[in-house]
Amino acid sequence: MADHALLASGRDADVFALDESRVLRRYRRGGETAPEAEVMAYVAAAGYPVPVVYDAQGPDLVLERLDGETLLASMLAGRTAVGAAADLLVGLHERLHNLPARFSADPADRVLHLDLHPQNVMLTSRGPVVIDWRNAAEGPADLDVAMTALILAEVAVSPDAPLADRARDGLDAFARRVPRPRASQLRVALDRRRVDPALSVVEKSALDRAAALVPTRAG
Ligand SMILES: Nc1ncnc2c1ncn2[C@@H]1O[C@H](COP(=O)(O)OP(=O)(O)OP(=O)(O)O)[C@@H](O)[C@H]1O
Ligand SMILES: [Mg+2]
Repeated sequence: MADHALLASGRDADVFALDESRVLRRYRRGGETAPEAEVMAYVAAAGYPVPVVYDAQGPDLVLERLDGETLLASMLAGRTAVGAAADLLVGLHERLHNLPARFSADPADRVLHLDLHPQNVMLTSRGPVVIDWRNAAEGPADLDVAMTALILAEVAVSPDAPLADRARDGLDAFARRVPRPRASQLRVALDRRRVDPALSVVEKSALDRAAALVPTRAG
């Protein structure tokens, strides 16, 4: 990809600018982008804000190039306050969980993003857009809520003190705005993070401490 500018290097993927209107998102550890492209097309058809998918081949996904910045960047630059960011995250959860599941026969199941945190929301001229659907699945909505809370909590227990404090505020603001997820769903979220290849050994060793910060209800 020497001829294309590297826009960003995430944990799972490198994102290259193809031209003014398209990016290439390439899985660094290989894998198939087709399932991610399909769930994006499904939620897009229902009016949910995602980048347009132009092509999915093996580890390569060609996507609409979004303008703007991530919600995290906006928060760190002081352009979005923690309460507004939490409102946005909660609204994106609610909208997603209003959609019917694609496959599950259980009427309680929904499409879940399972990585819906401030680095996977881009604030664009057409409004907030949710990226990075690699972990998407179907299941109970409170699993998605537990996952977002757990991811915020992971940052809150990280050694980077200023960022950890911001994440703690973010977690508290998010948790105040959503019904508490069931403890069983936090355990499911934890089990998924334990086997997530994007997490380092050090991050995995802090997962239990992070989970202890997430408010849950019985069940
Ligand atoms: N469609 C897009 N248009 C413009 N920029 C994008 C687009 N998709 C991703 N990016 C940029 O690339 C970064 C990484 O993207 P993405 O979250 O999809 O990769 P990732 O490797 O899964 O990231 P991580 O696991 O670290 O969250 C984003 O934070 C954003 O800055
Ligand atoms: Mg991401």
